[in-house]
Amino acid sequence: MKTALISGITGQDGAYLAEYLLSKGYNVLGIIRRLSTQNIERLSYLNIADKVKLLDGDILDLSSLIRILKDYKPGEVYNLAAQSFVGTSWQQPILTSNVTAIGALNLLEAIRLVDPSIKFYQASTSEMFGKIKETVQSETTPFHPRSPYGVSKLYAHWMTVNYRESYNMFACAGILFNHESPIRGLEFVTRKVTYTAARIKLGLQDKLSLGNIDTKRDWGHARDYVKAMYLMLQHDKPEDFVIATGRTTSVRDMCEIAFDYLGLNYEDYVVIDKELFRPAEVEILIGNPSKAEKYLGWKSRTTLEEMIKEMVEADLKRIKEEIKG
Ligand code: NAP
Ligand code: GDD
Repeated sequence: MKTALISGITGQDGAYLAEYLLSKGYNVLGIIRRLSTQNIERLSYLNIADKVKLLDGDILDLSSLIRILKDYKPGEVYNLAAQSFVGTSWQQPILTSNVTAIGALNLLEAIRLVDPSIKFYQASTSEMFGKIKETVQSETTPFHPRSPYGVSKLYAHWMTVNYRESYNMFACAGILFNHESPIRGLEFVTRKVTYTAARIKLGLQDKLSLGNIDTKRDWGHARDYVKAMYLMLQHDKPEDFVIATGRTTSVRDMCEIAFDYLGLNYEDYVVIDKELFRPAEVEILIGNPSKAEKYLGWKSRTTLEEMIKEMVEADLKRIKEEIKG
């Protein structure tokens, strides 16, 4: 039986990746940091909380990572842990750099010291393209990050490349464009929209405050995207891949899709709050996933409309259950 270790298993992608690896027959281990409250809602939502083994550790604590690798000997390590909210990265740039940049280095170092044959996946991001240098971004597009988060991810990305080149490690970076789901954090724009639209439909709220709704993103479904992470570690050689849909949509149009689905006009509810604008913005992202299609046989399956519908329905159901108590 193959054993995989996931950092960030309590997050959106960690939960879907755990579900997928379990379906492939893996023994799934996850690093869980000490918090004052339990934080396994997403694993419970997918009904897998009792099927994975959660291990105390923190990607800021190198010794905990070394201990876990020595004790459990995973063959694959997926580094999904991060301070992943771009907005917060301006409020907490040092914490973001420690977790998102140095955390990845800690995991790479732990692998190098314990067993360099362990395969490593780094969660890189389209946020690294930032102020885009090419209309459609691919593996060869130059980077220009626009946030402390993007800069931290770029450091982790190059460390992954460097460990591959320096130590011949099987270390891959997936450059994933935005991906969402019903278990997306409430602070990210798609989920903020689907959750608030559902509350408005149920008469619990009457306005949705947003920042810059003219920005555009290439949005896919997390359930589709975690399969690409797995495929990268099964590929015959370690390489980096862009994972995207190839379609871009504005936040405004995404709002329209969500409200339309509920029979509402978004223009009646959305208010623009200048406080929510970012100090530096990534105006538009659109990825070219052809390398992943060609070499991994991976393709995005879920359309934005299908995903938003799934998210709105899940939010409606959850809010109704909360009301019932
Ligand atoms: P997420 O929901 O915010 O999950 C982040 C995870 O990191 C959580 O499990 C969190 O644990 C964990 N974490 C934070 N600090 C940690 C620490 N010091 N030690 C150990 N774990 C820690 O993010 P996501 O959307 O699943 O994204 C997964 C990864 O892909 C992230 O690295 C993100 O930056 C990257 N990425 C995401 C997207 C996207 O669109 N979703 C696109 C490209 C790249 P707690 O639950 O304890 O907070
Ligand atoms: N969160 C949020 N809240 N975003 C808003 C809002 C709002 O009220 N109003 C407008 N936006 C705009 C943001 O300014 C941004 O241009 C866009 O909506 C998407 O914002 P997020 O959903 O927060 O995602 P992100 O693109 O900044 O970052 C996500 O994707 C990256 C990959 O490109 C995160 O998942 C990152 O971790 C990930 O690396």
